Amino acid sequence: MNDSRLWQRAADDIHWYRAPATLLDDSNPPFYRWYPDGVTNACYNAVDIHVEQGRGEQPAVIYDSPVTSTQRILTFDDLLDQVSRFAGVLSGQGVAKGDRVIVYMPMVPEALIAMLACARLGAIHSVVFGGFASSELAVRIDDATPKLVVSASCGIEPNRVVAYKPLLDEAIRLARHKPDSCIILQRPALEAALVAGRDLDWATVMATATPAPCVPVNANDPLYILYTSGTTGQPKGVVRDTGGSIVSLKWSMTNIYNVHPGEVFWAASDVGWVVGHSYIVYGPLFNANTTVMYEGKPVGTPDPGAYWRVIDEHDVKVMFTAPTAFRAIRKEDPEGSYLAKYDLSGFRALFLAGERCDPNTLEWAREKLQVPVIDHWWQTETGWSICANCLGIEQLPIVPGSPARPVPGYDVQVLDADGNRAAPGAIGALVIRSPLPPGTFTTLWNAEQRYVKAYFSRFPGFYETGDAGYIDDNGYVFVMARTDDVINVAGHRLSTGAMEEVLADHPDVAECAVIGIADEMKGQLPLGLLVLSAGVNRDPAVIVAEAIQLVRDRIGPVAAFKLCAVVERLPKTRSGKILRGTMRSIADGTSWKMPATIDDPAIIEEITSTLKQMGLVRDV
Ligand code: COA
Ligand code: AMP
Repeated sequence: MNDSRLWQRAADDIHWYRAPATLLDDSNPPFYRWYPDGVTNACYNAVDIHVEQGRGEQPAVIYDSPVTSTQRILTFDDLLDQVSRFAGVLSGQGVAKGDRVIVYMPMVPEALIAMLACARLGAIHSVVFGGFASSELAVRIDDATPKLVVSASCGIEPNRVVAYKPLLDEAIRLARHKPDSCIILQRPALEAALVAGRDLDWATVMATATPAPCVPVNANDPLYILYTSGTTGQPKGVVRDTGGSIVSLKWSMTNIYNVHPGEVFWAASDVGWVVGHSYIVYGPLFNANTTVMYEGKPVGTPDPGAYWRVIDEHDVKVMFTAPTAFRAIRKEDPEGSYLAKYDLSGFRALFLAGERCDPNTLEWAREKLQVPVIDHWWQTETGWSICANCLGIEQLPIVPGSPARPVPGYDVQVLDADGNRAAPGAIGALVIRSPLPPGTFTTLWNAEQRYVKAYFSRFPGFYETGDAGYIDDNGYVFVMARTDDVINVAGHRLSTGAMEEVLADHPDVAECAVIGIADEMKGQLPLGLLVLSAGVNRDPAVIVAEAIQLVRDRIGPVAAFKLCAVVERLPKTRSGKILRGTMRSIADGTSWKMPATIDDPAIIEEITSTLKQMGLVRDV
């Protein structure tokens, strides 16, 4: 089936107030627009339609929170009631179509309710992951200029209660833009002090709220902005439109994940990430699935059987998470002995994404679970799978290490440095021929030029994914590494450039480099190397501790920045470029050659010795 028929048919499967007469506007590349004259609403397609079609009593959301020992089920009736009333609250605060609302919340149903309430009004939500620090939140507040922020008093991590409200207050203090109001969900674990005249209590405003109806929006009106790491400290505000998101995500639920209306789907991620947007909130709800919101970890809440318990207890048919979660489970329970306690007979498939899935993890999961384990590749920018083994179309043989073949709608190619197509098996830049399918990003918020320059200028006619890899003789794609300085820590995308910017701010640091080194559990970990300014004679251990704290304070605990050392010099080329790749290879124990352009080969020995002292150099 060619793409236009596919995307027409998929569009026929959603609700439109006005069906689109035009499938694709390609008059202004690379700003392609799908369904440009369609009119729809994402909240209507996620909630109202199911109530109207008789699914009111079906569970829509199962909230399972081992960290608070609570469970709560919201039916589609309940969800409609809560979402339409919260939309009424937002509207009462002056939020209207096109306004931005920042959502900074832990994994509680109110986060999903806030997102859907924005969509109901045609307001644009921007969810910020709770593990980010105040300054990261402030950068997003200044870029998105929200009218209102929705937050909670706290998040709950297994080892501590994270007070969100002081982080929010500090972010608003740091930001140039000030939101008119904040709505705060008070959680029993830690109540927050409210700022009079600015902050409102969620429960109080909901008690007297009047429901607001869905506002029809143009298909190309933004549904949300989601910030993701780029190569600098300024994150990229990925913009996703409404019509394409509904069409592609609904299509993906049956065709990729092979789940059907009424079945339970679980994405163990966080609403702050793209996986959470697409597969905790929108995809499952568009498809009338029951979605699970899990506030816990794969291990330690309370044990490595946590995922199996959730699957058994809620009859999860298909699950999606990051490989790191399975590495964590395997580390604590290599034999999979916790599996014996649960009945997983209804479980059909496990999907993994967010980072490269090492074949060992995939094999372990497949052997223990006895279901297909599907690696699939995608990015915040695309919003849904670029490559996958589409279980709802035809299951292909599973080749560990590969996310299989391109999904319909994506023409994936490998190009060499000159832009020529690479031979099968040869590594190059992974690119996708334009236009990208519906549901992929339409621009970067406030940064149209960056959108063009970062993604569409190096290889004209193609979208540059930022990943490198190859395609084998059978058309299977292998995603091997990033081509930029983005690293992937426990499935979380982080910028080493942003960490370098923070470290460079330390008064004693003259120069620094952050590289991502291999880690058995988290995939990668950031490692910082600092060169101190001349004349600094403070204890290097103290400076290292301050540097670690600085990254935690400025970027957040999610950066997992704990490895750092002071070095005399950094290895560089004669033109002054820091040889990050060489240092990474030394730490990882992968083969490397002394770069011909190196300024002073002796530095490599010094660096190797520092890394060895840190216990980082692996045996080749
Ligand atoms: N709010 C506040 N802090 C948070 C947070 C949140 N929402 N999420 C994580 N953090 C903190 C953690 O507490 C930790 O802090 P610490 O340094 O004080 O211990 C830090 O950020 C790093 O978190 P994380 O990378 O998640 O490490 P972890 O050791 O707590 O857990 C895993 C490791 C593998 C168990 C966890 O990352 C996981 O469950 N991953 C799989 C699912 C997933 O997140 N997928 C995302 C993309 S699909
Ligand atoms: P994010 O935007 O946070 O979803 O991160 C996207 C990046 O994660 C991709 O560009 C890849 O580098 C990496 N990634 C995601 N899924 C896979 C996968 N299945 N295999 C290899 N890398 C992946």
